[in-house]
Amino acid sequence: MDKTRDNWGSKIAFILAASGSAIGLGNIWRFPTAAYRNGGAAFVWIYILIVIFIGFIVMVGEISMGRNVQRNPVGVYKKLAPRSLWTLVGYFGILTAWGVLSYYSVVAGWTIRYIFTSASGTFMKHLSEAEITNIFVSMVASPSQSIFWHFIFMLTTVGMVIGGVKKGIERWSKILMPMLFLIMFLLVLRAVTLEGAGAGLMKYLKADWSKVTGGTFIAALGQAIFSLSLGVGTMMTYGSYMRREENIVRSAGFVCFFDTMVAFMAGLAIFPVIFIMPGIEPEVGAKLIFIVLPRLFSEIPMGTIFGAAFFVLLFLAAVTSSISLLEVPVAYFVDERGWSRKKATLICGTIAFFAGILSALSVGAVGWLSHITDIGTRAMGFLDLADLFIGQYSMTFGAMMIALFVGWRWGTAALVQELSHGSNPGMAKKLIAFLIKYFCPLILIGLILYFILNPNAFA
Ligand code: PHE
Repeated sequence: MDKTRDNWGSKIAFILAASGSAIGLGNIWRFPTAAYRNGGAAFVWIYILIVIFIGFIVMVGEISMGRNVQRNPVGVYKKLAPRSLWTLVGYFGILTAWGVLSYYSVVAGWTIRYIFTSASGTFMKHLSEAEITNIFVSMVASPSQSIFWHFIFMLTTVGMVIGGVKKGIERWSKILMPMLFLIMFLLVLRAVTLEGAGAGLMKYLKADWSKVTGGTFIAALGQAIFSLSLGVGTMMTYGSYMRREENIVRSAGFVCFFDTMVAFMAGLAIFPVIFIMPGIEPEVGAKLIFIVLPRLFSEIPMGTIFGAAFFVLLFLAAVTSSISLLEVPVAYFVDERGWSRKKATLICGTIAFFAGILSALSVGAVGWLSHITDIGTRAMGFLDLADLFIGQYSMTFGAMMIALFVGWRWGTAALVQELSHGSNPGMAKKLIAFLIKYFCPLILIGLILYFILNPNAFA
């Protein structure tokens, strides 16, 4: 064991930090959107199965690789498959994490601005729909505003990562995650007791299997991989700070459980709202979060408090994810290039900030960046395309490569050996080994092929 390398201070530290990584904008924003488009509970069931049989398994594999080598993704592949092309997969993961960070920070920046907007009582003034829409549109259409909030968010992320694993990431996760759970709980209570909540809840909790197609499975898979932070080396890097005595299977189980719970709760909080607002076409995506919800806050008692709490929740979820994204390139430069953590964090954060400017300008501020192409009926700007290519395709590819690597190159015997540190021998490990070698690659490759052959099934 490398004594000079930073480690998590306790068992719970890994679980909280990794849950913090997993629980993010993906749970609160993307999950309800995907469930809404894909038949409510039908999607939720398919999603849960994918989390158990693919997400959880790949996560166990990814954490095990990291803990075995105690290095960043490039270092891991270099050690486990010396002088092979696998190292490229490590580099690819690092670039993907960096890329996700660049646009993630833009959306997360909006949530900071909205904490202030709601806390100052703006939404209590019974604004009209047009006025509320205008608050959002004028923010994203203004280059200085969108870049400013993106900058503030990136600065916050850098500030937390610079402290290191124990004094930065762990400390912040321990403070922020319990806050997040509490706020989520309060918001769900508020949403399900709203007058007329029943209609939305029915839509959410009743499965509409007629909406399920091959595309539903792809959407659920992409969502699970994004939400569980797989395929980019985040879990590998966090696993590399884990001690040998800890039980990987159990820890990964907790992370998957918490992540899925929070996504499910976000649906409980958001579905009622989609159907309550009178006369509005149910809207999902950015409009839902930044326009429909504020309208609701402007109408309910104590809307200022609930509104501010909601955006604080989004911010907390986002920042504990963005620190895990930044940690991936930082760990690479610290481990492989011998940079100090401070230098690595500052430089990696600055580069992600500049790369993110393109996304920041692509939601209305700069015309051609805002509408680069159309996919189906959806106009895609730079940020949408970055999310699709980096957040979906690259991450799914990365997850597939991890399953293939663990199953066929590193080997399931080595995996089982690593898992047996910190836990007793058992059937579960054999089952995991079987699933990662045969089942996960088969399903991942199958769904990716299906997608390539039917690109319109998922839009
Ligand atoms: N899982 C995070 C979310 O759901 C996003 C993320 C992806 C974080 C990849 C780290 C790595 O928002």
